[in-house]
Amino acid sequence: MLQYVKLFLCLIFLSCKAYAIPLEDSGDAPNLFGLEGLSENNAIGANFIEGDIAVPLQTGRAAYIRSPKWPNGIVPFDIHSLYTNDQKSVIRGAMSEIMKSTNNCIRFVERNSSTPVWLRIFPGQGCWSYMGRVKSRGAQDLSLQATGCVHHSVALHELTHALGFVHEQTRPDRNQYVLIQTENIQSGKEHNFNIFPSTSVSTLNLPYDYGSIMHYRSDAFSSNGRPTIKAIIDTGKDWDSTMGRGKNLSNLDIAKLKAYYSCS
Ligand SMILES: *[C@@H]1O[C@H](CO)[C@@H](O)[C@H](O)[C@H]1NC(C)=O
Ligand SMILES: *[C@@H]1O[C@H](CO)[C@@H](O)[C@H](O)[C@H]1NC(C)=O
Ligand SMILES: [Zn+2]
Repeated sequence: MLQYVKLFLCLIFLSCKAYAIPLEDSGDAPNLFGLEGLSENNAIGANFIEGDIAVPLQTGRAAYIRSPKWPNGIVPFDIHSLYTNDQKSVIRGAMSEIMKSTNNCIRFVERNSSTPVWLRIFPGQGCWSYMGRVKSRGAQDLSLQATGCVHHSVALHELTHALGFVHEQTRPDRNQYVLIQTENIQSGKEHNFNIFPSTSVSTLNLPYDYGSIMHYRSDAFSSNGRPTIKAIIDTGKDWDSTMGRGKNLSNLDIAKLKAYYSCS
């Protein structure tokens, strides 16, 4: 008898847990990375814009627009103990690429008990991050789902959001570089291709970059497998099959990180 009571309580508990996850904007968060075994992004207490940028519910888009930096380029972090050692080294590898590329101008450091705000890298649902340092106290979540998101390129992408960066193709000047093929976008997902005005997002006076780790794939939010984004400048490279699929920071990503954090 007792085991039936337990089972019953457990079912109730599970259903309560499912309800605790806000479903409102979860449809905005498909797997942008084309990875196997990955479900939609989801977070408690946040909505998503552009698929994987979490926005605190209280502040809405203001957090996006302000994109606060980590003071002195120092990003305290902890990595959840549920990850395996291999997964931890993938995450650390992405951090060290950012540190090396910026000559340690941007630094990820283990947090301790007196750290006021830190990046809590945890195996949540999907791959997502806030943009910039948005908390004033405690842990700021960055999710890398254990099955699906723990890859060098995905960790780099989400860490770069956490450092304050938007998706490359939301730059104010993007229409000079890409054509958005609205007819191939899943209906209701068009807003993921919005452009941010130059009052919100700075290009840092650096060129548009098809090869950015922050660029969408050409089939992002596609309803039919056909491209939603096409490169319109001929650079002599087939960007349609490579954009959004890079493994490392591009030279321009590095230049932008350095410019944003006033590195020498
Ligand atoms: C604790 O971490 C902060 C970074 O958040 C660092 O500046 C400080 O030196 C660390 N303190 C100790 C005792 O390790
Ligand atoms: C590029 O990414 C790979 C993993 O995909 C990594 O092993 C390599 O160290 C990275 N290159 C640089 C320059 O950081
Ligand atoms: Zn992203």
